[in-house]
Amino acid sequence: MTTVVNVDPAKPNQADITRAADCLRRGGLVAFPTDTVYGLGVHAMDRAAVLRLFHSKGRPANDPLIVHLASFGEVPPLVAQFPDSAKRLASAFWPGPLTLVLHRSPSVPSEVTAGLETVAIRVPAHPVAHALLSAVSLPIAAPSANMFSRPSPTLATHVLDDLDGRIDMVLDGGPTPVGIESTVVDMTTDPPVVLRPGAISLKTLRTVMPAVQPRIAPAPASNHKPMPSPGLLSKHYAPKAPLSIYRGKPTAVRALLKDKALSAMARGQRVGILASSEDALLLSDLRAVSNQSSGGGPPAVFITLASETDAAATAARLYAAFRELDTARVDIILARDISHDHGLWEAIRDRLHRAAASVILVGPETR
Ligand code: TXA
Ligand code: MG
Repeated sequence: MTTVVNVDPAKPNQADITRAADCLRRGGLVAFPTDTVYGLGVHAMDRAAVLRLFHSKGRPANDPLIVHLASFGEVPPLVAQFPDSAKRLASAFWPGPLTLVLHRSPSVPSEVTAGLETVAIRVPAHPVAHALLSAVSLPIAAPSANMFSRPSPTLATHVLDDLDGRIDMVLDGGPTPVGIESTVVDMTTDPPVVLRPGAISLKTLRTVMPAVQPRIAPAPASNHKPMPSPGLLSKHYAPKAPLSIYRGKPTAVRALLKDKALSAMARGQRVGILASSEDALLLSDLRAVSNQSSGGGPPAVFITLASETDAAATAARLYAAFRELDTARVDIILARDISHDHGLWEAIRDRLHRAAASVILVGPETR
C-alpha cells in the first residue's frame, strides 16, 4: 500500500513531514516534490533500503543515485574532499537544481554510487524537500520517482501511475516548478564538465566558473537523413511511441508535418502531435481532417506544450506531455523542433532529442 499525503507546497504541515521522515529513517521509500521533478527518497546509508529502491524502480544497479541534503554543511562527511571550486558553485546555486559529482568518502555505500569512487550531491530548493531533509537529518538518495525507462514525474499522479503499491509514501505537493532534472557537473575533473544539461544552463554556471566545459556533444544530424539519436541508446526520457522531430524553417516544417500526419492518419495510425501554441493553425487544420475521418482511423491526439518563446513553461509541460501521449496510446509522434541551444532550452533540447527516434532536417539549417 502506498500512502498519499497532500501537502501545501509552500508550507507543508509539520506532522506530515515528521511521518515521512520517520518512514525514511526506518528504511522506507518516500516520493517527494523537488524544485525539478519528484524524487524517490531512501536513507542513503541503509544498503538494504537502497537495494529495495533499485528494485522498486526496475533501475539497473550500474546507474548511480544523487544524494540529497538539507544544506551545504552536510557535505563534508560524504566526500573525500570538498574543493573550493565545488564550494563556489554550491554557494552560488544551492539550494537549487545543481548536482555536483565529488570524490566520495568510504562511508557512502557503493550501492548508492554504483561502485564509482565519486558521489553526486545536491541540495534541492523546494520547501517540501527542504522540510523533509531537515526533519530526517540524514543523507537521502533520490532518483527521479518514475519506473526506469519512463519520463520523470512532475506530478504525484505520475509517481502513482508508475509506482503505486511499490513504495511506502508519496508527498503530493502539486506540480514541480521546473519540470526537468538538475544539471549534473563533474567536479572531479579539471576543468569541471557538465555530465547532464539541466535546469541551470552552461552560461549561468559560467557566470560563477568560466572554466566549466559543456557535455561532449552528440554527432550532428546530416541533411534530410534521420539521425540515430542518443535516445536510442538510453530511452530514459522517452514516450513509448517513436517520436520524429522535424527541424528547420517553421513554415516548411509545418507543411511537411501536415503531410506526414495526413498520410499516417490515412494509413489508420493514431497520430500524436506535440506542438507549441504558435502551431495552432496547423493543429486546427489537422483536427478538421481527424474529425471528418471519425468513421475510419482513430482520432489524432494534439498536445500543445506552451509558447515557443517560453522555455520555462515548455520545460514544465514536457514530461507530462510525454505521459499523455503514452496514455493516449498513439502509434507515432510528430513534433516541430522548437528548441534552441541557450538557457533552459539546452536541457529541453537534450530531453526532446534523446526521446526522439529520429531528428530530420527540413531544408537548410536556419538557426
Ligand atoms: O533533478 C534531479 O536531479 C532529480 C531530483 C529528484 O533531484 N533526480 C534525478 O535523479 O534526476 P536520477 O537518478 O534520475 O538521475 C541521476 C543522474 C544520472 O544521470 C546519473 O548517472 C548521474 O545523475 N549520477 C549520479 N551519480 C553520479 C556519479 N557519481 N557520477 C556521475 N554521474 C552520476
Ligand atoms: Mg531519472
